[in-house]
Amino acid sequence: MAQYTRISGSVALITLQNPPVNALSAVVRHGIVDTVKRALKDSKVNAVVICGQNGRFCGGADIREFAGPMSGPPLVPMIHAIEAAQKPVVAAIEGIALGGGLELALGCHYRIAHSKARLGLPEVTLGLLPAAGGSQRLPRLIGVPAALDLITTGRHVSAAEALKLGIVDQVTEQNARDLAVEFALSVSGKPLGDRRLSTRPCPPLPDADEFFEGAMARVRQHARGAIAPVACVQAVRAAASLPYDRGMERERELMATLFNSGQARALQYCFFAQRVVGKWSLPSGARWDNSKARLVCKAAVIGQGTMGRAITVALAQAGVSVVAVETQEKQLMEAKQAVTTMLERASKRKGVTPPLDLLRFTADLREVDGAELVIEAVFEDLALKEQVFHQLSAVCRPGTLLCTNTSGLDVDRLAGCTRSPELVVGMHFFAPAHVMTLLEVVCGPRSSPEAVATAILLGRRMGKVSVAVGNCPGFVGNRMLKPYLEQANFLLEEGATPEQVDQVLEEFGLAMGPFKMSDLSGLDVGWRVRKEDGLTGPGVDPSQPMRVRRGHRYCPLPDLVCEQGRLGQKTGRGWYQYEGPGGREARPDPWLHSFLEEYRTRHGLTARRVDQDEILERCLYALINEGFRILEDGIAAGPEDVDAIYVHGYGWPRHQGGPMFYAGMVGLGRVLEKLEHHYRALPDVPYLQPSTLLRRLVETGSPPMQKWREVIQNPRSQL
Ligand code: NAI
Repeated sequence: MAQYTRISGSVALITLQNPPVNALSAVVRHGIVDTVKRALKDSKVNAVVICGQNGRFCGGADIREFAGPMSGPPLVPMIHAIEAAQKPVVAAIEGIALGGGLELALGCHYRIAHSKARLGLPEVTLGLLPAAGGSQRLPRLIGVPAALDLITTGRHVSAAEALKLGIVDQVTEQNARDLAVEFALSVSGKPLGDRRLSTRPCPPLPDADEFFEGAMARVRQHARGAIAPVACVQAVRAAASLPYDRGMERERELMATLFNSGQARALQYCFFAQRVVGKWSLPSGARWDNSKARLVCKAAVIGQGTMGRAITVALAQAGVSVVAVETQEKQLMEAKQAVTTMLERASKRKGVTPPLDLLRFTADLREVDGAELVIEAVFEDLALKEQVFHQLSAVCRPGTLLCTNTSGLDVDRLAGCTRSPELVVGMHFFAPAHVMTLLEVVCGPRSSPEAVATAILLGRRMGKVSVAVGNCPGFVGNRMLKPYLEQANFLLEEGATPEQVDQVLEEFGLAMGPFKMSDLSGLDVGWRVRKEDGLTGPGVDPSQPMRVRRGHRYCPLPDLVCEQGRLGQKTGRGWYQYEGPGGREARPDPWLHSFLEEYRTRHGLTARRVDQDEILERCLYALINEGFRILEDGIAAGPEDVDAIYVHGYGWPRHQGGPMFYAGMVGLGRVLEKLEHHYRALPDVPYLQPSTLLRRLVETGSPPMQKWREVIQNPRSQL
């Protein structure tokens, strides 16, 4: 609702009331329409101030209303009525003015903001555009380039930036509402003229066509197939080139297309999925989210390689003091230098002091004894990790939480090396750990709810989306990656090139295709795991055919590439070539193409043309199929958890929702049918055999995702 009060004799104060963010629900819109009418009719009122309850102006539309038919007064005429008012209307912006909230403020004649307020039009992140006049008024107020930046990225700006851009008229450290009332009194009676933004022309833009073509090309390049940013450019172009009313028509048309698109549904799903992840019970029946997490102030990180360094940075940035342990003297020196540089750079960007005083570097493991939580990040070698856990258990104080950053080893084996297995969990970060927003918290069968809760909350303090997962090889993310990478490798045997496979998956929207991603992570990681697993290397029975392991099809190509010393970006060569070790730009490598041809000839394989659909289906459906198996095995609590992991840790495009959401969009029946088809063609590839859960879901009529849990009903849940 919206509360109406009259203050200072002649100012009507309208307060939006809809906790927590005063979203513009139907009731609030009714309230605004009614109170504005009342204020305009009241002869004692000379000016109006609109503010929000509890120090928050307005967080925008009520997203829950998107699901059904819209009821209540629509936003556009409501904002028009405010703009058309004959008495000045001032927005008093405290806390936030986002989306529809900022559009409402743009309909007001003046805007006063508190210095801590944040403003923005984030609709694009939900697959939409600011369609309550935002795309037409903002360019008229601050010019096309600045408006285009805010609208196409959805980024929030501080009050100071908003003032600089001209979005707000004044910023105050005091109460914005009080200043707005004072301000309203000072402008009452003054002509409103071009304070009505819809009446202003857009500031002229030299070479508008060239500007918009360039902007469109840049946006398309970043959008990875998302349609909303493209529509945002089209809407702003309409603002720059058409009269206001025609621009509004264009805004409405574009919005209708977006609103009904699967992409908007996917992005809104991601928004909600992120909030529900990780709410379930542990095997003991206890819920971690009801358990009290410990506040960690002092941590230790063991191993200062790629991951250890970045984890140290992320912890220090979250205000946690860190003892960084590394046994190799040279690595220790390099780590100290690298961590310091990373922290200094990040702090410079934010204009804060680097938290270097929180760090201590040492080669002596005994120095971790004061830490409340330890994260182990030594080589991916089970025997070494077991030894480290033995040592940690001996030197740490009782009650210390011991975590491992393993990519997929058995967390319970490590727990078994300690005095308190209930205090051991996995904290699986993703490279680069100070940048990537995903953390898989691996719950072993003996992990206590308190230990899980502590790791989850520490992750959140580090700015991560923390998702609790069960303990199995590869956990959730890497377990699903295995069949996906396997298909990509098989496609090379059958005639595709790394460039072709990567291109198709990147056009689908993935941040990086499988071969570029493998080059980035280092091909040796998987190679080491396969050697330990007896799939390659000296441990393999020499009588085995090269392309068969344990009765199933096996692709030795990644092993052969590693044997050539091509380990990816770190060696300057992998599936692609790079400009020197550490070079980032992947360039096709003629050596690799001849290598693939020779390989096919040696094994009597005839290269065929592999089309785009086959690449997409085989890679993505194999990954999705494993996702269903993970749900069946109780390794993830629900499809939202799997999707959050893929969106935050594996570069899955948000506008495709996540692999499980995508499966629902494609149709479970279709995914099943295609998997059956490919499995018939490749019966020696068990990952293509449709999972029991997928079959059961299709048999029960492919229910919507919210109902999958009823079909799963997992008696074996690991969580
Ligand atoms: P790395 O090879 O860059 O670093 C490992 C470091 O541990 C080396 O500096 C080594 O000297 C040190 N170390 C070995 N034994 C030690 C001991 N007893 N005490 C102290 N330090 C010791 O390895 P990276 O890539 O940082 O991986 C570390 C862990 O993180 C592995 O378990 C890996 O599977 C996991 N991980 C790696 C990811 C990646 O993308 N590289 C992603 C997620 C997890």
